[in-house]
Amino acid sequence: MPVTELNSSAATTRLSAAFQAPAARPPIWLMRQAGRYLPEYRETRAEAGSFLDLCYNPRLAVEVALQPLRRFDLDAAILFSDILVIPDGLGQPVRFDEGVGPVLMRLEDTADFAPLSLERMRAHLAPVYETVDRLRAELPRDVSLIGFSGAPWTIATYMLEGRSSREFTLGKYWAYARPEDFRVLVEILVEAVTAHLSAQVEAGADVLQLFDSWAGVLDDWGFRTWVEAPIRAIVGKLKARHPKVPVILFARGAGARFAGLAARTGVDAVALDCTVPLAWARETVQSETVIQGNLDPAILRIGGPAMERAVADILAAWASGRFIFNLGHGILPDTPPQHVAALVRQVRGA
Ligand code: CP3
Repeated sequence: MPVTELNSSAATTRLSAAFQAPAARPPIWLMRQAGRYLPEYRETRAEAGSFLDLCYNPRLAVEVALQPLRRFDLDAAILFSDILVIPDGLGQPVRFDEGVGPVLMRLEDTADFAPLSLERMRAHLAPVYETVDRLRAELPRDVSLIGFSGAPWTIATYMLEGRSSREFTLGKYWAYARPEDFRVLVEILVEAVTAHLSAQVEAGADVLQLFDSWAGVLDDWGFRTWVEAPIRAIVGKLKARHPKVPVILFARGAGARFAGLAARTGVDAVALDCTVPLAWARETVQSETVIQGNLDPAILRIGGPAMERAVADILAAWASGRFIFNLGHGILPDTPPQHVAALVRQVRGA
């Protein structure tokens, strides 16, 4: 068998095809397609114990990643994991508390950066790479396997705040008041994210997505310095090692900065959040790159005619160009699964 056939990352999958030319019907996958809205997820999650126990259990993580594909005709599976396995792996332990979310012992000074270790991360995250490998073996060849990571800015906010934040007081303090110190942390994260994504490609991921969920809270200088520059560095290193693996960037809240974002960072596709105007995005963003998005997860939860209208609008605006159907943010836990089934049917044109 020729080498290229053995190497799944070189094969064309349903999603990677969208990077070459517009499809007759856009491919579809959904952020947080595996999760609490599915009763079978809640069952597996209970079996695993904690959320992170689930992330680090390859057998169960494969199971929950496959659950949405058994129910719905989706074009991709996404690795089941979390963006916060990076600090957890680097040596800043993460815990998920019921009703609170992630909890970390926050980094308070540059001295706290020193113990963070890339080598520790590689070893700690071995079960995650095993999950990718097993998922690739379980999936039909043409179904894409998306690997992912948080981007440095978004991960750093959790490392510095110690939990989810509304105002990003500490993250912004470091970003704007101590940029030279903050840069030390961001450089560690550039290396960590690159290593994490490369390991996923080597284990069988054929498309990558970077989540910079809090990109939208920074000013112009902050966005260029802490969102675009680190991502450009990561993508440059990834492309040197894995030139054929497309990278999608979800920089939530980037607004007018979605224009030209692919060129400024080197990514192959830009995921648009729910508030982006459809016609503007077609003319300014889709004309220069592949776009992904952007149904409001709240509208998916509502379903019915409201959802049909919103999906029809997105398809009318974007489906004739290079486009991957998705939500503008992750599925909400109280979404009825039958709404997801109806969404997939509508996008398929059935
Ligand atoms: O999309 C997928 O299906 C892949 C898996 C995935 C999860 N989280 C699983 C998860 C991905 C890609 C993420 C990304 C992630 N995690 C982001 C970026 C995307 C976004 O939503 O903006 C962020 C900010 C996180 C951090 C995180 N993880 C928080 C703040 C929380 C707690 C809030 C919550 O919804 O409970 C999580 C937990 C989490 N990550 C769950 C899942 C399925 C729920 C855990 C549970 O079972 O209780």
